[in-house]
Amino acid sequence: AGLAAAMKLAEQGVDVDLMSLTPVKRSHSVCAQGGINSVNDQTRQAGDSEWLHFDDTVYGGDFLQHQPPVKEMCSWGPRIIDLMDRLGVPFNRTAEGFRDQRRFGGTLFKRTAFAGATTGQQLLYALDEQVRRHEAEGKVRKHEHWEYLGMVKDSAGACRGIVAVDMRSMQVRAFPGDAVMLATGGPGLLFGRTTNSMINTGSAAASAYLEGARYANGEMIQVHPTAIPGEDKLRLMSESARGEGGRIWVPRAKGDAREPRRIPEPERWYFLEEKYPRYGNLVPRDVASREIYEVCVVQGMGLEGKTMVYLDLTHIDRATLNRKLGGILEIYEKFTGVDPREEPMKIFPAVHYSMGGLWIDYESTSNGFINEASPRNHQTNISGLFASGEVDFQYHGANRLGANSLLSCLYGGKIGAKAMVAYACGQARRDPLPSPEARAAVRRWEEQFRRLASSAGPENPHALHKELGEMMNEHVTLVRFNPALRAVEERLAEMTERYGRLGNLDGSSWANASLLFANQLGNMLELGKVVTRGALLRDESRGAHFKPDFPRRNDEAWLKTTLAEHSAEGPVMSFADVDVSLVKPIARKYD
Ligand code: FUM
Repeated sequence: AGLAAAMKLAEQGVDVDLMSLTPVKRSHSVCAQGGINSVNDQTRQAGDSEWLHFDDTVYGGDFLQHQPPVKEMCSWGPRIIDLMDRLGVPFNRTAEGFRDQRRFGGTLFKRTAFAGATTGQQLLYALDEQVRRHEAEGKVRKHEHWEYLGMVKDSAGACRGIVAVDMRSMQVRAFPGDAVMLATGGPGLLFGRTTNSMINTGSAAASAYLEGARYANGEMIQVHPTAIPGEDKLRLMSESARGEGGRIWVPRAKGDAREPRRIPEPERWYFLEEKYPRYGNLVPRDVASREIYEVCVVQGMGLEGKTMVYLDLTHIDRATLNRKLGGILEIYEKFTGVDPREEPMKIFPAVHYSMGGLWIDYESTSNGFINEASPRNHQTNISGLFASGEVDFQYHGANRLGANSLLSCLYGGKIGAKAMVAYACGQARRDPLPSPEARAAVRRWEEQFRRLASSAGPENPHALHKELGEMMNEHVTLVRFNPALRAVEERLAEMTERYGRLGNLDGSSWANASLLFANQLGNMLELGKVVTRGALLRDESRGAHFKPDFPRRNDEAWLKTTLAEHSAEGPVMSFADVDVSLVKPIARKYD
């Protein structure tokens, strides 16, 4: 989303400071594997349309999205993919030379365009090339290895720039901006080991929340059904493996320890195909992950007694596998030592995505589209602060459909950039940066790092993070119970107190990752409170949020956006109506 926005801003003649924790080509979108969704020529012939893509998306999200922005995003899908094709993304082609398409979860149409199984990487590299062109022309100044710390606000409370830290020299600096966009991704690290990159702490979003930005639907956390178990971190095994015919199964006999290829077909339980004959292995992620939980944890049928099942590609010929899934098969082979073309993969559900994020606005037209000229689009409740990509809450409701995230990133970057320009042009002429405010903000962050560096308490930030991640993962993901959520709240309060007693942090003044992490950890703790409070209050089951004690969706009480605002006492929660003006919510079923 950040690169898309930078490209669009530069195209409009705007000067851009592009900040990134990593080289921009290593942003987390590089990990998006399976593809990007849109109605296309092939699906149109089967009766598909932009409307049906929109309909599948809001149905898949269990109706928690405001509908006009989703409709507009889906209507832009074909043009966005055409644009990326023209920019050189090597999308897979059919023998006739058309863009190839595959099916992803939560739809019966083959809407997903793909570049092998490294689609995010290819999109990112194509955008990077465009941004480099604008950089060479002097329109974009790229600041890689700088971390966003907070805003510079003027006396009216508008965002007028940011404070960031150079992760090498540890210099803290203010950058002016007529408008600021956060495209900082999701908060996966809050849950410890996830499919997210190690940079995805959610720290920037949490900092914005602590400085007054609203956080919406924080409790909506997606668990991807197919990740590769790992000791260090978890790696995604793309839904596209099932899109190309991969089948999920466990042995029918509990505890059957035979080598999988020796288990004959009738003795295998293809439980998703059996329970969901229409969607089969491509039910949406919330449904698939819960079924794996049910089979493994509740019925005790998991491989080796764990929450683990087979994902089997061995019936597909090697040439097809290599052409369409090469990138991810190499990942599996590299990290497990097993060739998934020859042997079924062992996979399990892992935290993957946050549907919730910074609240952003939109302006719709009378026919349910979006007024693209409006500065309200993608603007947070802080004037001048915008958000796009996984860091915003707008498009995926209570559950995101696979391969819709790259679309929402590109669309959000594009429309958000336009809104930033509209916003900036609508402001009275003003100084580039209010100096006293900027100086005070820089001093505040320098002081924060000085305080952390001189802390001499007993608590180790990495040990504290491990505890936090394990707790959040156990109690605030797939299945949620109120007593456990209350206990998590208590422990979060206790961990916040312990966070005030950190110690043994690296004192060096060069590339001090330990200090940066300690700062991020404080932010993660605050975001953990938002996620947990939202989960505790929402007494229903909807999409990724599942409470066995409240197993049904309750539209009367809970067809609401959860909004969190920071206060010294913790998150203050309120609930706002969802714009369901285009499609009436109905019961969501895939069987
Ligand atoms: O499964 C995948 O390839 C992931 C795609 C996504 O999260 O959209």
